[in-house]
Amino acid sequence: MASARGEFSSRLGFVLAAAGSAVGLGNIWNFPTQAASNGGAAFLLVYLVLAFTLAYPALMAELIIGRHAHANAVQALQRISPNAPVRMFGRTAGLIGLAVASLILSFYGIVAGWMIAFCISSFASVLGLESVSAWLVSFGFARNVIFMLLFMGLTIAIISRGVQDGIERWSARLMPMLILTLVLLVIYVLTLDGASEGLKVYLLPDFHRALSPDLILRAMGSSFFSLSLGVGTMLIYGSYIDDSQNLPLVGGMVTLVDISIAVLAGFLVLPAMYVALHNGVEIFGPGGELLSEDTLVFSVLPELFTTMGPTGVLVSILFFFLMTIAALTSSISMLEVPVAYCIEEHNVSRKTGVYAIGGAIAAFSTVILLNFDTLFGFVISLTTRYSEPLLGFVFCVYAGWILHRDKLLQELRKGNPGIEQGLFWKIWPWWVRVVCPTVILAIFAQSIWG
Ligand code: PFF
Repeated sequence: MASARGEFSSRLGFVLAAAGSAVGLGNIWNFPTQAASNGGAAFLLVYLVLAFTLAYPALMAELIIGRHAHANAVQALQRISPNAPVRMFGRTAGLIGLAVASLILSFYGIVAGWMIAFCISSFASVLGLESVSAWLVSFGFARNVIFMLLFMGLTIAIISRGVQDGIERWSARLMPMLILTLVLLVIYVLTLDGASEGLKVYLLPDFHRALSPDLILRAMGSSFFSLSLGVGTMLIYGSYIDDSQNLPLVGGMVTLVDISIAVLAGFLVLPAMYVALHNGVEIFGPGGELLSEDTLVFSVLPELFTTMGPTGVLVSILFFFLMTIAALTSSISMLEVPVAYCIEEHNVSRKTGVYAIGGAIAAFSTVILLNFDTLFGFVISLTTRYSEPLLGFVFCVYAGWILHRDKLLQELRKGNPGIEQGLFWKIWPWWVRVVCPTVILAIFAQSIWG
């Protein structure tokens, strides 16, 4: 990087990098399985509505604060604060966001490591190395640590190269590959017997279920996690966008890419589940509930792939490769949150910051693996269920109540001089002020008392 702060060289570079952050295990695994166990099309419908009416405005809050302050979340929230107590609050919220991003990466690295292991396992079976292949898919400390470290090493290597050289270049390479692989897999799966049953479940909504408060809350949480909101990731990416870019437009493009990939992944996973069912794999319990929601990808899909004969091995390699790519473009955005803070606040060089923080997170992942039963689920629910909605609320409050309306307008005008006449400016300022904080608080309240 030529200067202390990097910048994305083009609109496409930013959209690819931010969409790469948004698209991850959340979209390709979490969203389709949530849809499968929460009414299929009903979940899809509510998810789509909430993604555009709630998650998109919240994403805009982070992007605008980030570009306005040209800083990481800790400094940005302080810079826009009018007085000492608000500044102190902003600093604390930013630091919590940084810790949450690191904690998310600590479990994400473990799951992503499994993706790599499953991908290599399929390769090993092609080569006839059956015992190696079996070891790679069996749960064990050594396997888990090795592949977590491999994944973290890849993340560290990309991030240590800086914004343009690292994030943008890799996202630009990986995202198109990801979309292409997904489309090919969808086309393939849709030709198989049983797939049409899955399609029906995914596309024909039961409107009764769409009105269930539990489904609405789950879909809302899913859309926030999916767009990487509430940890400062998108705020950092916003700070890397140059002033000539039209923020509502680029934010909209990121949202569209993110939602499209989640919906596309649904077209793969739901039909694939029913293909597996058609082939005799048990997916649902006696009450119609999904048997292994969390581990579906590691049990049902490999079973499905093996029933496809030789083609199945290829499909398996492609699928787990795809999951690894998706996880990598998300993990680099998570690591950038604490790294950007260390570079800007403590004058640490990018390389030192990346190695120290990446190393510390990998060490914590090892601690999680050593205490898997107690820590793994705890860290996931602490970060995704409690911290993200609460911090998303804080970002919306800062954009809606603390950053002055004139400053918002000034920031938005930079990339779009006619913004005042548009629909975005007529709706978004009061929407982010009132609707978003209220609904995010409702998600948070639901996590505690629901
Ligand atoms: N949006 C990512 C996914 O869908 O997998 C998860 C994520 C990435 C959450 C980055 C938070 C974050 F900062």
